[in-house]
Order: sequence, then structure tokens, then C-alpha cells
Amino acid sequence: MEFDLLAKDSGSKARAGEITTAHGKIETPIFMPVGTIGTVKGVHQRELKEEINPDIILGNTYHLYLRPQMEVLRKAGGLHKFMNWDRNILTDSGGYQVYSLSANRKIKEEGVKFKSHIDGSYHFFTPENVMDVQRTIGADIIMAFDECTPYPCDYRYAKRSMHMTHRWLDRCMNHFHNTPPLYGYDQTLFPIVQGSTYKDLRQQSAEYIANAGAEGNAIGGLSVGEPAEEMYAMTEVVTAILPEDKPRYLMGVGTPINILENIALGVDMFDCVMPTRNARNGMLFTAHGTINIKNKKWYDDFSPIDEMGITWVDTEYSKAYLKHLFSVNEMLGKQIATIHNLGFYLWLTREARKHIIAGDFREWKDKMVKQMDKRL
Ligand code: GUN
Repeated sequence: MEFDLLAKDSGSKARAGEITTAHGKIETPIFMPVGTIGTVKGVHQRELKEEINPDIILGNTYHLYLRPQMEVLRKAGGLHKFMNWDRNILTDSGGYQVYSLSANRKIKEEGVKFKSHIDGSYHFFTPENVMDVQRTIGADIIMAFDECTPYPCDYRYAKRSMHMTHRWLDRCMNHFHNTPPLYGYDQTLFPIVQGSTYKDLRQQSAEYIANAGAEGNAIGGLSVGEPAEEMYAMTEVVTAILPEDKPRYLMGVGTPINILENIALGVDMFDCVMPTRNARNGMLFTAHGTINIKNKKWYDDFSPIDEMGITWVDTEYSKAYLKHLFSVNEMLGKQIATIHNLGFYLWLTREARKHIIAGDFREWKDKMVKQMDKRL
């Protein structure tokens, strides 16, 4: 993997860059649509590619390991072939499920025992076998196995957990470098900074991760319920330490405003279920604020979904029609809303990139943040 830093904003720490892997280029800053189980829910691959046009999407180790399981992915020749997606894929490691499935898992130094949310069966994840699973999935960028701590998290727990995540990183890197890729192209491993909302732990973790010398680095354990200001404060501490010449990925973030604020702090890559999950609940993100399309007030509003027309659905359908589809629970409503939201998120990061290159990112960001902070 290569990373070229192409431009730096003068009024903030925002950067524009380009990652190159075996599956092509990734222009940064980038929002990566989430495709947990081998599908960006409700969107055809063709439409994703031609209309939304992301250079990279996400998959999830834990979910793909449970279904369709490794045997199928190995026989398919990896996830790219299985799902017919020839651009980049990043897989998360299951470290987030350590947090989200807290009632159904037990953490030890050796690894994590999970109780499957599908059939109640037990599975043991270690730093080593999580590398094997991600070799079999075949994503271009794979993530270290970590513990995403909850918020709030007491200092002693956060510190102990951070050190364990560091030890797990060493085990991940050892195993990763001792196993070959399975499908004839290189994969790269990103480590993850933890440390909850404690500045000294975040500094310590960022230093440890920077020293690991990976080709890109991630920031985890944020957007788990802490106030946005705390998230920004932690990002700022960490980006000041992570190397400049490598991409920085902020995991699981966030709202359009969170994304712009974190770009301003030097983050290059983002993922979040928000545009897709919220779309399925009728929430639309626009440049002028958010819309709850289920609201009564849209029932006779025949104006386009979004006058900006970023994707074709925006001008092809009216708000009244989309509200109707949600009222009668038709799946087309969820599909339209998903295409709209992903189109908007990708537009937002592309615009950010243009403004970083043009040198007026800070002014544009401040204007957008004000504009988007409304409910329509
Ligand atoms: N997704 C969002 N946050 C995290 C995190 O801290 N760790 C991992 N592995 N995935 C995440």
C-alpha cells in the first residue's frame, strides 16, 4: 500500500491524499460505506459503484465469520469475488463486537469468547485467528484485534485494556507477517489507538501505535456515547502523534458534522452505519440539515427529496412519495433513502477534499457545520 499526501490546509490540520492498493486508488478524505455482511444493505453493487462511487467499502470479520463462514469465502476466492466488488475493501476485526456484544462475550488475555447472536454457539477469537479470518476474507486493509472500551470507562480499566490491546497488536503483527496472503495480492494491517477519554492514555497509545510502523493507523474507542467535544479532544491528541505520512482512520464516526470536524483535526478515513441505518429509519442527511421523512408535514410536499441532486433518486422522487413509501413500509423507501444518504456522505468528503486542495477548507467547513446543524 502507498500513501501520497497531496495537500495540507493552512487553516486547520486537514489533509488531502491518495492511497493506492492492489484494488485501486482511494482519494482521501474518504467516507467508507459499511457493508457488514457482504452487502451495503439495500444497494446493488452496480448502483453503489456507478452512482455513489466509493473507492472502498467495509466488511466485518465477526459477522462474515459467522455467515457465510470461512469455507464459502475461501472457495469463492475471497470477499471481493464473492460479492462482485473489484474495488477496495477494509475489514474491521471484531474488536467493536467486544464492545457491542458485551453481554455475550468474555475477555481474557488469550482472546475473547463470543456467544453467537445467530444461534447461541460459542466462538473464541484471538489476535492470531482474527488475522487468519481476515486473510481468508481477503480485504485490502485489515484491522488489528482490539478492545473497544465503553463510555464512561474508569481509568484503571481503560489503562489495563489499552495495554492488552497493545499486546494483542504485537501478536497480530507477528502472526500477520508470518502468514501469506491467499489470493495473490498484498493486504495491509492497521493498528488501533485506544485509551478511552483519558488524554495521557491516548498519548501513550498513539505513541505505541506510531512505533509499530504500520502503513496506516486507526483511532478506536470513540463515538461510543461521549460528548462530541471529548471525541474531538481525543482525536486532536492522537493525530498530533500519529505519523503525518500515513493515513489515519477514525473508526465508527459519525454525523456529517463529526466528519468535517475530524477532517479538520487531521483524519483521512471514516466509516459509520449512520447514513445506511438511519436511512432505513427515515432520516435523511442534507447540506441544509436532517429530515425525518416520516414526519406528517411532508405528506403533500411534492418538491424533490433534495434539490442538490447528488444522486438520481434526489430529483426523481418527491418527499411526499418517499414519506408514503415509509408510511406503508415498502422496501423501496429504505433503498431510496440509503442511496440518498450515502450519496450525500460521499459528496461531503469529496467536497472537503476539493476545498483542502483549493486552500479554503476551514471557511467552507465552518459554513457547512452551521448549515447542517438543523432539523428541517
Ligand atoms: N469501530 C468503531 N470503534 C471501534 C474500535 O474501537 N475498535 C474496532 N475494532 N472497531 C471499531
